[in-house]
Amino acid sequence: MPQQHDFDVLILGSGAAGLSLALLVADHVKVAVLSKNKISSGSTSWAQGGIAAVLDDRDSMESHIEDTLNAGAGLCDYEAVKFVVNQGKEAINWLIENGADFTRDDAPDESHPVDGDYHLTQEGGHSFRRVIHQADATGKEVQISLEKQIKKHPNITIFEHHMAVDLISNDRKNFKHQKCVGAYVLDTKRGEVDVFRAKATVLATGGASRAYLYTSNPDGSTGDGIAMAWRLGCRVANMEFNQFHPTCLYHPEARTFLLTEALRGEGAVLKLPNGRRFMDRFDDRGELAPRDIVAQAIDHEMKRLGVDHLLLDISHKNADFIIEHFPTIYKRCLKLGYDLTKDPIPIVPAAHYTCGGVMTDLNAKTDVKNLYAVGEVAHTGLHGANRMASNSLLECLVFAKSAAQDILKVLKREKLNTDIKPWDESRVTDSDEEVVVSHNWNELRHFMWDYVGIVRSTRRLQRAARRIDMLAGEIREYYSEFTVTPDLIELRNLVTVSDLIVHSALLRTESRGLHHTLDFPDRDPDLDGRNTILRPPRRPRSR
Ligand code: FAD
Ligand code: SIN
Repeated sequence: MPQQHDFDVLILGSGAAGLSLALLVADHVKVAVLSKNKISSGSTSWAQGGIAAVLDDRDSMESHIEDTLNAGAGLCDYEAVKFVVNQGKEAINWLIENGADFTRDDAPDESHPVDGDYHLTQEGGHSFRRVIHQADATGKEVQISLEKQIKKHPNITIFEHHMAVDLISNDRKNFKHQKCVGAYVLDTKRGEVDVFRAKATVLATGGASRAYLYTSNPDGSTGDGIAMAWRLGCRVANMEFNQFHPTCLYHPEARTFLLTEALRGEGAVLKLPNGRRFMDRFDDRGELAPRDIVAQAIDHEMKRLGVDHLLLDISHKNADFIIEHFPTIYKRCLKLGYDLTKDPIPIVPAAHYTCGGVMTDLNAKTDVKNLYAVGEVAHTGLHGANRMASNSLLECLVFAKSAAQDILKVLKREKLNTDIKPWDESRVTDSDEEVVVSHNWNELRHFMWDYVGIVRSTRRLQRAARRIDMLAGEIREYYSEFTVTPDLIELRNLVTVSDLIVHSALLRTESRGLHHTLDFPDRDPDLDGRNTILRPPRRPRSR
């Protein structure tokens, strides 16, 4: 039997954004934290390099702001950048108070500046060492320490294997005055869709890089929050800027394994198959240029030479240093036959981060009342046309705090909505053709990779748009006839998000940051500061 759950705050997602927010409100209100898989299954647990913040006296806020603006290629919102950067140190201290432990520096010196005794590493686009980390498994450390606190808190209830299907509005016909009053949620173990009622709902569902065939992301990065917000009536921005990480391991058994940018920060170099370096032909900063430039350079060289991978080499550095700083990567590569201390490692770029998302203000509020979006799901204005390395976890922490403060104010005047209909399954049957879903999943991710990847063209984008229209029609039909399953929900969301990516890309008639198109190869100065904002059609949902 479907159930009903009542909470003050409903948080969809249990990564850095969702868990931080839960902890920041839970002393005052009852909170539900949902994860569609296990609690630690989001991208947060996989983060490697670290968290960027100004932690050294020789560094400055101005420098972190300037680097972020430069990486963002003319599209960052200055106020959002300043807001995040200024709260960096406080956010890191909050994590440390909540049990996160970061790598210490045994031998601080000029080349390894530290605050206290923490080791700070360097990544692309940063003009200073400002990335605090736990070896090469920073996300795991953050996730585990936050989870420990969450599990102890009496006001927080965790629901694993609970997948939000759609957000609930109090009044879908009156878009101007509608409020989000909770969500329909599939309990994937019981196979029932329950109602979660809440005074405030938070999307902390992560990104959408699973729209692409090759990605560094876990399975759950299917853009659910972006698609749900879009269906409810929220605007989304800058979806064309999907970030490709330059260095994922190229190996048939490990297509999603990332080789952190911190490797390049600590001296690793990129090489062609003949052993020659090439990055200096593309940017003065060489291997430490921002990600868009490095990924495009790799893509260019791979296509020019007709090869399926290039190489990343750190073997010239001291072996003990490599093993101490990159233990996870060292072990994983060794298992697959590559010794990081001796061999160059085969790499390819892969989809990594969704820079666009649900439009929010500095309090993480969306267009719909009582609906917030925090973390990778959101477009805050911090990243512009290209996110700088290690600014994402910082964004999760800073906006979790501002959202928490706003929610606690708003909740004082909110009541639970008592007029929510249960999920309607009366007109659907169980599908006997799951193959349709898996086939469409594969098709989508293949053509997104081929036509909407690192280098685009108008013709390729139009081709992708036509295929998306066809898939969207099939999915609509399937969705209205059959009982929802996790795969169907994710595919429906991925099709929506891919549509948003392709349409945003078609609207951007220039090359800028992560959007590179052969038909408009140059940056257009008239488009500086011009975001691609899409507004959903105002029509009630069909089910
Ligand atoms: P996530 O951590 O992805 O969590 C999403 C949560 O939402 C999950 O709990 C998931 O189960 C849940 N969810 C999704 N859909 C639903 C639904 N329909 N119903 C219920 N729950 C749902 N950033 C940095 O700043 N520094 C780094 O070093 C770094 N390294 C990275 C390395 C890798 C390999 C990857 C993939 C990313 C890295 N990033 C890094 C990016 C960063 O990790 C993510 O942007 C960040 O962790 C996102 O956090 P989040 O809380 O928004 O989402
Ligand atoms: C990495 O460690 O290279 C990933 C950092 C990031 O995505 O911010």
